[in-house]
This record gives sequence, C-alpha cells and structure tokens, in this order.
Amino acid sequence: MNAPEMKKLQTNADIDMSHWWMPFTANRQFKAKPRMVAEAKGVFYKTPEGREILDATSGLWCVNAGHGRPEIAEAVGRQLLEMDFAPAFQFGHRLAFEFANRLIDIAPEGFDKVFFANSGSEAVDTALKIALAYHRARGESQRTRLIGRERGYHGVGFGGISVGGMVNNRKAYSAALLPGVDHLVHTHDLEHNAFSRGQPAWGAHRADSLESIVALHGAETIAAVIVEPVAGSTGVLIPPKGYLDRLRAICDKHGILLIFDEVITGFGRLGTPFAVDRFGVKPDLFTTAKGITNAAIPMGAVFATAKVHDAFMSGPEQMIELFHGYTYSGHPAACAAGLATLDIYARENLLTRASTLEKQWEDAMHSLRDLPNVIDIRNIGLVGAIELAPRAGAPGARAYEAMVAAFEAGMMIRCTGDIIAMSPPLVIEPAHIERVVTTLRSVLSAIK
Ligand SMILES: Cc1ncc(COP(=O)(O)O)c(C=O)c1O
Repeated sequence: MNAPEMKKLQTNADIDMSHWWMPFTANRQFKAKPRMVAEAKGVFYKTPEGREILDATSGLWCVNAGHGRPEIAEAVGRQLLEMDFAPAFQFGHRLAFEFANRLIDIAPEGFDKVFFANSGSEAVDTALKIALAYHRARGESQRTRLIGRERGYHGVGFGGISVGGMVNNRKAYSAALLPGVDHLVHTHDLEHNAFSRGQPAWGAHRADSLESIVALHGAETIAAVIVEPVAGSTGVLIPPKGYLDRLRAICDKHGILLIFDEVITGFGRLGTPFAVDRFGVKPDLFTTAKGITNAAIPMGAVFATAKVHDAFMSGPEQMIELFHGYTYSGHPAACAAGLATLDIYARENLLTRASTLEKQWEDAMHSLRDLPNVIDIRNIGLVGAIELAPRAGAPGARAYEAMVAAFEAGMMIRCTGDIIAMSPPLVIEPAHIERVVTTLRSVLSAIK
C-alpha cells in the first residue's frame, strides 16, 4: 500500500469513541471491542485496516444496488450545487414531482400518490396518520384504533413502536404509547413451519385474530391494520400461504384500511418490485424507505391509492388537506439519489433479479440444516434466516457470537434474538452466495 492509502485506512486506535451514543447497540460492549468499517464498494465493505467484509445484509436491508454507485453520488453532487434545498410546504420543485411520477410508474396498479418522508419510521407514522385522517374526512372520526401485530417492527416513532410488537422496543416507553392500539397474533410457529422454503403452508388462519379484535372493540372503532408483508427486523417471518389475502378480506368486510410496511420488502427484495406484486394482495397504503435511494441519502415514502387520497380532496380548495409533512419531505438531494437509483434498478433489472437467484439462495441456506443448534431455516426472495436454539440461561448469545465471529471471518450478518438474518445486495453473484454459506458453516460449527 502506498502512503496516502495507508493514511486513509487507519486503525481504530486513534478514534475517541466516547461521544457518539450509538443506536440499537450495546455501547460499552461495542466500544470495548469495536467492529468498524471504512469503505464500501459493490457487495463489500472494507475495515479501516483494509480487510474485506462481504455485506450479507445490504447494510441494514437497504443498499439494494450494491455500494458506491457513482451515478448516485454524481446525481446528488450535481443537485446540491444546482439547488441544495427547497421548502415543500406551499412551494415545489421539479425533481420531487418527477421522482413521484417515476415511483408511480413502477408501483403496483391502483397506487396513484406518493407522500415523501425521510425514513421508514417517518413513513410509518405518516401512513398511520393518513389512515386516521382518512376516516375523519369521511365522517367516521370514531375510527381511531390502530392494529399492529406481535413481533412487528415499524420503526421507532411513537406510532411505530405502538403498533410494533417487539417487546424491548416498547417496554421503556410503555406509559407513553398510543392509546387504543391492539395486536394480531404473529404467524411464526416452528412446530408447524420449521424449515419451510418460501411461504409456509400452515398459518393462514392466524389472520382470523383480526376477527377477534373486531369482536372485542367493534369494527366501527378500528381505523387500520398495519403489517410487514415479510417481517424482517424481528427475524424474517414469512407470511403463510393465504394469510395476507385473508387479512385483506377481513379488513374489507369491516371497512378497515390495510397498510403494508414495505420498508424492507420494497424495491426488489422479494424478486418483484414490491411485496404487493409478489403476493398479489393490495393494501390501501404502503410504506417504503431504504432501497428507495439505495440508502445513499435518507428517504421514505408512503404510497396511497386514489381512494384514500381523494377522500381528502372534498373541502374548499384553499384549505390544506393534510396537516402533516417534514422540512425535508422531497429533499432535492434525496430525489436526485432516488431517480439515479431507479435508473440503475431499471438498467440492471434489479427489481426482479432476486427471483433468478432465489433458488440458489434457498438451497444454499437450507444446506446448513445439519449444523449444531440450528432449529429453523427460512427464506424468500433474497432474504434468509437461521434460527438457533437459545443457550440455556443466555438467550441471544449464540446469534450474537455468530455475528461477531462472522465479522472476524470477513462477513456482515445481522442477529436478532437467536436468529441470524441475511439480505444481501441484489447485485450479489452466485460465487458470493457460496462464500456466505462457507463462512456461515465455519462460524456456526464453532458456536457452542
Ligand atoms: C418494516 C420496517 N419499518 C420501518 C423501519 C424503520 O425504518 P427507519 O430505520 O428508516 O426509520 C424498518 C427498519 O428496519 C423496517 O424494517
């Protein structure tokens, strides 16, 4: 390595780590033995020491087109020089309209409007607020209940954690969660579904827990149900065959809006542009973020049907229809990143590429079934999970140790509880998939 390269790829020793309060991280544990990355290109990160790390998680399920795409960087740079910011309240700029049009071009039929936010959490809170305001606009202001699902993850806003079903994300804030929220039962049951390939056959009837909630509270009090079509952050929970259709039918029967949270599944993760396309079930609203800009600039978006949007358009024309928005809604740099990202997705057929790799990915994942402590393997699109039996007295320890060992062995994976989750960039090649499996085999073989 020459001197400038040496200088760039420094070790961690000279960094003061005391001031960044890191999110969703055991700060003291991490800072005692950090896992640092410094550069990223394609499907690889590089550590400050120059070690290559295969990114088996697309960062945080978000860098769908792979890292370091120059087209995105150039588009953002150009835009920042041309116009760095424009207010979106009562003013507009071309790129935001153009990006919304392009998103609607690839959206499932029936989705006609896009509302911009800056993250998945903001997209979720936006969708929940649109659902509440929709019923109010139609004269059903008593519909205020929001229904989530156990083990759901919808980001970290108060709306998102209220409808979310991950206990640790809720318990410190429990007194301040939204009132009137209830939860469907989740669909994960290893007794019936362990080692399913794709959608499990068992579990559609779990959608009927919505009927129980309706019976308990009264349909006329319920505004919306929100679910992830495939739950990601809680360990990859794949909808049983027929489950989403049944949920849709029950919502229709009772006049309840259905919201899909596609923050992870959007933009090609399942081999189709959106999960809506893969499962053939249409919600009334769906949320996106992450892959919308290939994660290069933060952005989120809510897609709405004309039915939902048009309910807001009946008042006087000079009235603001929806009292909601963010300073950075439709930020010019994010729109530029998003447009460049959509160009890459189209040029490289990335929104459907996962479907061509899915079989190899599935076989690769399931080839690890014989390893110690593995109690389930599940997959869909380019998403996979390996569930480990918890170590007695130390739940979560095995998957955490696997994550640490994988990083040392040159691969980034995620752990949630005792589940290892993977979602590689959609540009991954067959040889990389083999490397994922080889690394996992050696890492998991050594976990006690
Ligand atoms: C389904 C889902 N919704 C919402 C979010 C929150 O997104 P963000 O972290 O951008 O706020 C996530 C993040 O992983 C997610 O997986």
